[in-house]
Amino acid sequence: MATTLITGGTVVSATGRAAADVLIDGETIRAVLEPGSTLLGTDVAASVDRVIDATGKYVIPGGIDAHTHMQLPFGGTEASDTFESGTRAAAHGGTTSIIDFAVQTYGQRIEDGLAAWHEKAAGNCAIDYGFHQIVGDVNEASLEAMRRLPDEGVSSFKLFMAYPGVFYSDDAQVLKAMQVSRDTGMLTMMHAENGPAIDVLAAQLVEQGKTDPYYHGIARAWEMEEEATHRAIMLAKLTGAPLYVVHVSAKQAVEQLAWARDKGQNVYGETCPQYLYLSLEEQLGAESEQWGHFEGAKWVCSTPLRSREERHQDAMWQALRTNDLQMVSTDHCPFCMKDQKELGLGDFRKIPNGIGSIEHRMDLMYQGVVTGEITLERWVELTSTTPARMFGLYGTKGVIQPGADADIVVYDPNGHTSIGLEKTHHMNMDYSAWEGYEIDGHVDTVLSRGRVVVDGDEYLGDAGDGKYLKRGLSQYLI
Ligand code: URP
Ligand code: ZN
Ligand code: ZN
Ligand code: ZN
Repeated sequence: MATTLITGGTVVSATGRAAADVLIDGETIRAVLEPGSTLLGTDVAASVDRVIDATGKYVIPGGIDAHTHMQLPFGGTEASDTFESGTRAAAHGGTTSIIDFAVQTYGQRIEDGLAAWHEKAAGNCAIDYGFHQIVGDVNEASLEAMRRLPDEGVSSFKLFMAYPGVFYSDDAQVLKAMQVSRDTGMLTMMHAENGPAIDVLAAQLVEQGKTDPYYHGIARAWEMEEEATHRAIMLAKLTGAPLYVVHVSAKQAVEQLAWARDKGQNVYGETCPQYLYLSLEEQLGAESEQWGHFEGAKWVCSTPLRSREERHQDAMWQALRTNDLQMVSTDHCPFCMKDQKELGLGDFRKIPNGIGSIEHRMDLMYQGVVTGEITLERWVELTSTTPARMFGLYGTKGVIQPGADADIVVYDPNGHTSIGLEKTHHMNMDYSAWEGYEIDGHVDTVLSRGRVVVDGDEYLGDAGDGKYLKRGLSQYLI
């Protein structure tokens, strides 16, 4: 097995930083050494197969994006990144593990939904991957099957209080599924928006001729996120289920999470880069020669972008500092404008929901370090260490320590990244939601289990090198 030394850098963890060299043996981290260490009297650097010079750079655990949707059938089409293209883009951006959502559709057996997801991913991923299970049909057979998911390495499932007729669960179904969560220790992940009420508001807007993409965000008012978040919290409290609310965007939803956490409840939440940086006002103002006001479709996602005037974005950054929100995932769910987002021309309800960001999460969150919103250590915690702990991967992932997988990113704080321009990203999209963003930092070298998969901007990975991650139960619960 080849040995590698990453030397001269600053190793950053969730709890601190230090000048250190990282010795890798095959796929595994062997030691974290004082700079210039000797081993049995010989200079370590002279005895390894390969030396990576990280002078002036940060050496961090590879990013873990715990919320992605490769090849998701949704909105009458399918998310445009395959496991191959999506994980390649992830690697370029310093993410070395994803947790994607296997889907049980209405009427399907959970076992069959999960098996189909394994089939899509196996042999196609450049980096390691795990699954959560979307339960789109909570019935007696599903509730039984859910109890067996931890044996499959699937220790979390997602329910939807939104999307009636697609993935929606009513309160009775949520309650029953949460009882399984309580009994098994699996984490209940919740899409917390009041779907039935939103659908009425959306239909009324369309009847009034308000069909532009912007009205997607008007229909999905923050009140509908706050209400559903509260309902999910109370159902979790009643059942004793641990709860993780996905893609939180409303400051009032964060207030609900903080309230429950202050009472000691096992309640957690993630936000996504789009809710930190982008706004409803910008979506309203979006216009192009090609698309006119339909340009705003590029940013149609659920939960929606929120008003900057109402300061939701500030509230998300603050919650990341105070740990009212614990981590940042992308909810990577890309669709092209042509033939996909286009389905919603003349009716925003038909725009497939989702934004692609998997390649930019580490950079966008690093920009929060540059602007002083978060510390360097918190950056690592939000993007790698907590995702590992939250979803049962910690120890092998999320940390640079002996015995851990050698998933490592060498990040250059003096580099620069112009993100989002069509030609510069690797996601399978015909536009970028992040066009024009400038980052004061750059992903230099990416190792996935000891293999260099990205060197500078060169991709050296291979589809099929990524392996399935059988996850344990959450290591984060109180
Ligand atoms: O707009 C989004 N978020 N699309 C993906 C599906 C989901 O609800 O996470
Ligand atoms: Zn969702
Ligand atoms: Zn999602
Ligand atoms: Zn680059």
